[in-house]
Formats: sequence, structure tokens, C-alpha cells
Amino acid sequence: TRTPVNVTVTGAAGQIGYALLFRIASGHLLGPDVPVKLRLLEIPQAVKAAEGTAMELDDCAFPLLKGIDIFDNPADGFAGANIALLVGARPRTAGMERGDLLSANGGIFKPQGEAINAGAADDIKVLVVGNPANTNALIAQQHAPDVPAERFTAMTRLDHNRAISQLAQKTGAAVGDIAKLTIWGNHSATQYPDIFHAEIAGKNAAETVNDEAWLADTFIPTVAKRGAAIIEARGASSAASAANAAIDHVHTWVNGTAAGDWTSMGVVSDGSYDVPAGLISSFPVTCKDGKWEIVQGLAVNEFSRGRIDASVRELAEERDAVRELGLI
Ligand code: NAI
Repeated sequence: TRTPVNVTVTGAAGQIGYALLFRIASGHLLGPDVPVKLRLLEIPQAVKAAEGTAMELDDCAFPLLKGIDIFDNPADGFAGANIALLVGARPRTAGMERGDLLSANGGIFKPQGEAINAGAADDIKVLVVGNPANTNALIAQQHAPDVPAERFTAMTRLDHNRAISQLAQKTGAAVGDIAKLTIWGNHSATQYPDIFHAEIAGKNAAETVNDEAWLADTFIPTVAKRGAAIIEARGASSAASAANAAIDHVHTWVNGTAAGDWTSMGVVSDGSYDVPAGLISSFPVTCKDGKWEIVQGLAVNEFSRGRIDASVRELAEERDAVRELGLI
């Protein structure tokens, strides 16, 4: 029998947490034969709600779930963690300036990075979901100097999945026939969903669509603004699809990308595609044996270059702002 994998989830009592925990416990995060132990990290005021969720997890009698512990401090929450899903974050409220938002999140992700550095397992893998995800991941990573930087990633898989779905609807293709789509840059309105290298049943997607106006005026803004459209329609933010994307991100990282395909992940840049080294930016990546690698050698046309540069510029501004605030 395998040793259970310790999975820490922050913001466990929140909306995404509620959609996420049951799928982790049922085996969708790591695989149908991998036992897990959940470590739920919440702020003290939300511990009681997390206990309620834990009661429901118990009531599912999941065979793979080998334990649930609830914590209100990062040191205990991350102790021994093999996988950490950093979902809890401080949302932007009305009238909040970017500096205030970054400061509030620095107050969350700095101590979490320190706690991961101090007590997580040697094979720790971190996914940051809480927004601003790329910069929160950078803050945590910068405070975990003993953990290899490539273990800190930010989620753009929801954007990736949204783009596949939009492309499938436009072309009438099955989602399973779409491969090699890329989200570049920041998980924000500046992100760039790129179909120039994507394939639909083996054929180039951009050539199949052959409609640059649709790309520029419909596809890209629809993907980038999908979160706002869902809030407008549901009266609540996208939680189930975000949880699904977090499951996909970690599953792919651990179990690998399919042959002939890649995925999108926010990862530490090594300078590839002229993205300044050290920024946590979304790239096309392949995964194998629990490691990711940026896909190399893709031609970047003028249409793509300007959009990648704009999103990366925003990431650099966020990094400079958190530097100025003394958060990294
Ligand atoms: P929510 O507000 O329902 O839940 C957040 C939870 O985090 C709350 O229970 C809160 O008590 C907890 N929390 C706050 N500070 C914490 C701390 N220091 N330690 C532990 N827990 C803490 O929010 P929801 O809908 O679950 O979303 C969570 C985050 O995910 C938000 O920042 C949201 O913007 C982001 N998000 C990111 C997406 C992506 O694609 N990267 C997609 C959708 C949402």
C-alpha cells in the first residue's frame, strides 16, 4: 500500500475549496490509486466552516481519503506537504488600489512561502490559484529560498480550458481534438490565448479559423473577460470551473502531458521567448516525471509578440510594485 500524499489546501472554506476538496479526496487530483491526506488551512474565523466541510468529506466515505486536519496557521498547515494548493487570497474590494491589493496579498503569501520553506516535504509542488495568482506565486517563491523555484506555479489552466472550449464552439470541433493551445503572460485581462500553434484534429487551428478579426475582437476578449461574464450571469464567481482547472493543472504536472500536446502553466521564466528571467509567466509547457519544461522553438508572429509583451510588461510592473512595497 502506498503512503498517502499530503495535500494542503488554503482557503479551504471558500467557494473554490468547496468545489475542489471532494475531487481531491475522490482521486481526481493524483489518480485513482493514490491515497491522500488533506491539510486544510484557513483563517481562524473560517475554521468552523472548514470543519463543516470536513464533516461532509467524512460522510462521503472516500476510500482514498486517509485523514483530514484543519489548521489556522501556515507553519502547521504546510508541515510535510507534498502538494500545496494556495487558493485563499484577499480579493479586490470596491475602491481598493493595486498597491493595497498587493500589500494585503503579500501579508498572506510571504508567511506561506516561509512556512513552505521551513516545513514542506522535499518534493513539494505549489500551485497558486488566489489572485493576483502570478505575483502571489512570485512572493511565495521569493520567501522559499531552499525550495527549487520551479516548484512554484500559478494557475492559467482555467484560461487554457476556456480557450479550448471557445475554439471548439467556433469550429464545431470536439474539445478532445484540440491540442497545443497556449496561454501566455499574466492571469489577468492582458493574458494572451494563442491559437497559432494550436491544432484541431492535427490541422493548424489559426488556418482553420482563418479569421483574424474574430481572434482579435471576439476570441481573445471572450477568454480574457470570461470571469467577469460569469460573475455577471451567476451573481457569483467561477468556482467549480476554477477548481476543475486546479485539478487539471496538478494532475498534468504529476502525471504528464499527452504525446503531441502541451498545456499552459504560470512558471518561473528562464528568459525563454524574451520573458525576463524570474517572472512567473504563463508558457506552453510539457510535463513528464513530475517536472515541467517550457516548449522551445515556437515561431512568434507579430500579432502574438505585441500581446505577449503587453502581458509580460504588466507582470514586470506587478513585480516592481511588490519590490517597492518590500514584499520581495
Ligand atoms: P472565497 O472568498 O470564497 O474563499 C477564499 C477563502 O480563503 C475564504 O474562506 C478565506 O477565509 C480564505 N483565506 C483568506 N485568507 C487566508 C489565509 N491567509 N490563509 C488561509 N485561508 C485564507 O474565494 P474563492 O471564490 O474560493 O476564490 C479564491 C481565490 O481564487 C480568489 O483570489 C480568486 O480571485 C481566485 N481565482 C483564481 C482563478 C485563476 O484562474 N487563477 C480563477 C478563479 C478564482
